[in-house]
Amino acid sequence: MLTKTNNPDTSAANEARISDLLEQMTLKEKVGQLIQFSGFYDVTGPAPEGEREAQKHRLLQSGIIGSMLNVVGCDEVRTFQTWAVENSRLGIPMLFAYDVIHGQKTMFPIPLAEAASWDLDLIQQSARIAAIEASAQGLNWTYAPMVDVTRDARWGRVMEGAGEDPFLNAVIAEARVNGFQGDDLKARDTVASTIKHFAGYGFVEAGKEYNAAEIGTVTLFNTVLQPFRDVLQATNPRSVMNAFNTLNGIPATGDKVLQRDLLKEDWGFDGVVVSDWASAIEMIDHGFAEDSRDAARLAIQAGCDVDMESYVYLDHLEDLVVSGEVDMALVDDAVRRTLRLKLELGLFDDPYRYLDRDRERELLLSEAHLEASLSMARKSIVLLKNDGDTLPLRKQEKVALVGALAADKDAPLGNWRAQADAHSAMSVLEGFERAGLEFSYSEGVSVQVGEAGFEYPVMVNTGNRDGIEDAVAVARDVDKVVLVLGETARQTGEGRSRTELGLPGLQQELLEAIYAVNQNLVLVVVSGRPLVLSWADQHVPAIVQAWHLGHRSGQAITEVLTGQENPSGKLPMSFPRAVGQLPLYYNHLNTGRPNRREQVVWAHYSDVDNSPLYPFGHGLSYSTFSYSGLTVSIQSDHIAVNVTVTNESEIDGEEVIQLYIRDRVASIARPVRELKAFEKEMLKAKSSLVIELKLSARDFGFYGPDGAFRLEPGEFDIFVGGSSQTSLTQTIRLSSDQLRSLGQRSEIMK
Ligand code: GLC
Repeated sequence: MLTKTNNPDTSAANEARISDLLEQMTLKEKVGQLIQFSGFYDVTGPAPEGEREAQKHRLLQSGIIGSMLNVVGCDEVRTFQTWAVENSRLGIPMLFAYDVIHGQKTMFPIPLAEAASWDLDLIQQSARIAAIEASAQGLNWTYAPMVDVTRDARWGRVMEGAGEDPFLNAVIAEARVNGFQGDDLKARDTVASTIKHFAGYGFVEAGKEYNAAEIGTVTLFNTVLQPFRDVLQATNPRSVMNAFNTLNGIPATGDKVLQRDLLKEDWGFDGVVVSDWASAIEMIDHGFAEDSRDAARLAIQAGCDVDMESYVYLDHLEDLVVSGEVDMALVDDAVRRTLRLKLELGLFDDPYRYLDRDRERELLLSEAHLEASLSMARKSIVLLKNDGDTLPLRKQEKVALVGALAADKDAPLGNWRAQADAHSAMSVLEGFERAGLEFSYSEGVSVQVGEAGFEYPVMVNTGNRDGIEDAVAVARDVDKVVLVLGETARQTGEGRSRTELGLPGLQQELLEAIYAVNQNLVLVVVSGRPLVLSWADQHVPAIVQAWHLGHRSGQAITEVLTGQENPSGKLPMSFPRAVGQLPLYYNHLNTGRPNRREQVVWAHYSDVDNSPLYPFGHGLSYSTFSYSGLTVSIQSDHIAVNVTVTNESEIDGEEVIQLYIRDRVASIARPVRELKAFEKEMLKAKSSLVIELKLSARDFGFYGPDGAFRLEPGEFDIFVGGSSQTSLTQTIRLSSDQLRSLGQRSEIMK
């Protein structure tokens, strides 16, 4: 069993209670527990209409439905919970889920921005606060963290995850699960977490939303599944959400090998598998299910416990059991998992435990929570370039601030913003004002025409250039121009795949018009994904990646630009020179022709340099760090990697010391580098630290084409530095005996 259950006595008592309940339940009541309806106002997928909606209302009123999503607020939740507890025969309480992705009411930076902080404590705190606020609004289940490794910034949902590396995804997801669930799921300020999407959604072909994912076994096990198994090994997420996509031809929702054989049997997951929104019935469109009845059969047999908003379990599951096409034991197992979660959350003890209106009034958007969001935002900002120490801005410098996104109070809230009030973030312009800076402002060009909700396309401004002239005038005679350009909130997230990754609309035109009159530029990029910044890299001396940073975005960005905060973020995703390079990732294979040759016969593009514009793990500081004294030694139960890091500058600063390995020769080709450990440390000015990073035997192993874990002897290069491109390296040789003895002492999972 990989998954840690709660205290064994509690588990035994819970299981006995569930068995007793199952004995009493009718088949209809059991099926009801496996149905999840969305609330009626905040929908995150295609919503039902007409008679189907009336039927939904009747069923909810009957109290037979097991869970809901998108119902928020103590009063709203109480209404539905009262129906479940008082109107139904057995009074089984409901679960209430919501997409609390980067905050409930207080918005934190989007998950990809938080990942750029590499600060696991702050990330855990962010999830902790999100859980406190979500539970204060009656919720007890969040559909987060997303654990999809992503290598293609064309996919709009890269904003929701932790980027391209499986190890970084795993440790960040662990921090988030622990933040959401805390130490006690029965506590009123903790919620059940959901690791999602299982599996392969981050690998949709060409980054096209909902597209097919074709993933070979080696990549599937070593990159895509690895973070899920690591999170399950290290923590206890109480639910898993499957996925819309087909994985190698099989819709994840109907994939038995994935959900039942691997997740539930091999990995021992004892929580709830919930479908994605209508993903069960969408198996018809996939051409995998004949009709909705077939979809119900395929989903339950594959191990999908709860059907979110596709009605196939409602319409057919009872009949499938009665006809013998579906074994009652499968339904019982799914119901047991659902009831187990309700018991673990304490909902049977007190179904109204999350419905304290005083908590709702006092805890949402508190100053302490906003302060925590600011701390997270500060550490998520990545300084990509800073030629000639253009930054930080000097007090005496005359500054112009340009760009619609500089005054935008909505973009920093990002997509998947739960209950945040629109236009409620602090803008950069407000941050400048708050800091007492002297500056002039001009919008330049608008990015988005009108408002855009979660489900509708953004209208990008491609025709109105009126503001460029004024912006050029404002920029002409100042010492520095700070341009804030990039994506609005709804240009990222679900349904927001793009084929081009330049600055949307007329922003590039604005940038070049400003450059024509003043070359002392600072570009602040606001986006939910890596954009193509090649022109800016060649022309703009300072570039800051500021993502969508939540409620205190403007203050965090201002503090970094003025030097009050020394930037310490590192990229969790590679930034491409051109969109044609995608998918792009640092942990790639070497190929048989990796080296430049005179002829064209080597692994490259003829029109763009192979390398990323900014690599994974890259991020500058106002300090200057150097590395020396790298040593690698084999200890009894681990490999010790020691290095001295020095802050050569007069400015205190934080550095993320990263450790990568390369398996030089193995039974399958291995990546040129793989992140295996890191530490974020504060180094005082003119000081040094000796850092020890540890590697276990497992860090040297991998899953072969047969999906089996392997440890093979040989030479391994160890790299340590402030980016995946570091050249500081040592090589070690590990024999079979050494690996075996290391493996026996350190925990190796199969
Ligand atoms: C959405 C997303 C999923 C989310 C669910 C409920 O379509 O794919 O991540 O949790 O529906 O909102």
